[in-house]
Amino acid sequence: MKFSSSILVCVSAATATVNGALTRVSNFGNNPTGLEMNIAVPSKIATKPGIILALHGCFGNGEAYYQQTKYSQIAEQKGFLTIYPTSKRDSNCWEVNTAKGLSRNAGGDNQGLVAMINYTIQKYGADPAKVFVTGSSSGCMMTNVLMATYPDVFAAATCYSGVAAGCVAGSPGASPISSDGKCANGYVIKSQAEWTKVAKDMYPGYTGKYPKLATWHGTADTLVRLVNLDEQLKQWSGVQGVSFSQNVTNTPQNGYKKMVYGDGTKLVGYEATGVGHTVPVHETEDLAWFGL
Ligand SMILES: *[C@@H]1O[C@H](CO)[C@@H](O)[C@H](O)[C@H]1NC(C)=O
Ligand SMILES: *[C@@H]1O[C@H](CO)[C@@H](O)[C@H](O)[C@H]1NC(C)=O
Repeated sequence: MKFSSSILVCVSAATATVNGALTRVSNFGNNPTGLEMNIAVPSKIATKPGIILALHGCFGNGEAYYQQTKYSQIAEQKGFLTIYPTSKRDSNCWEVNTAKGLSRNAGGDNQGLVAMINYTIQKYGADPAKVFVTGSSSGCMMTNVLMATYPDVFAAATCYSGVAAGCVAGSPGASPISSDGKCANGYVIKSQAEWTKVAKDMYPGYTGKYPKLATWHGTADTLVRLVNLDEQLKQWSGVQGVSFSQNVTNTPQNGYKKMVYGDGTKLVGYEATGVGHTVPVHETEDLAWFGL
């Protein structure tokens, strides 16, 4: 394989190795939990490019999620950067259960992930107003946590088959093996006001905007129960101050139902009939939601 000199120039300052279009970056900044950073850099980077942080599920890793999703292929046309980090602890699940992991700048996985974004903004001249997060399963749980702990960092989020921010709080672990299972099995049910408080308490005193969210879930999910979609929608409709307006059936495809909140610009849910864990990633819809 021959690497293009522009990619080599771009990464030369960091200690980095290149696997195809995916680059390993070390020394990206504060990394309290020992995460790995990988970044997909397109051959032609847009001026002030956007950034997508794409989070794998438990037992996964950044390299595999890069292979499984099409963000970096689409980036060859659009010029945005995609970060594919790897969690290496707790069966490679993200830290969505501990007090530090559910706080800001407190030494959790979330802090290391935001450090990767800081590094990418600085290194590639990326646009801080075009930072997005997505993920599957545990990656969707972390998406919800990042929205609550770092709402100022992200403009928009999408995710697949996860849970509300704080749903796994207090569990001994965050994996199917180490967790107490209460959240995933659908036993953590709260009112909209309670969920709103859970999210807002993760960044006390913040009065700015929260990222918009499109969140997807399968009705046949037995690993992370469907009720977790409703709990997420309660949480973010409360935070955003929008209420349910309508269901649109067979959208974006047969058997999927789009649940619209407010005018549909801040919050939507997608319920996928008969789909299990996890809902397949819908890259085109994600990019439309991000405005990329
Ligand atoms: C990211 O950058 C901002 C602005 O420079 C800084 O205030 C913040 O501490 C950084 N966050 C992390 C987690 O490195
Ligand atoms: C919208 O869809 C949800 C999820 O299937 C359902 O619980 C709700 O009753 C529907 N609402 C209306 C008004 O159809």
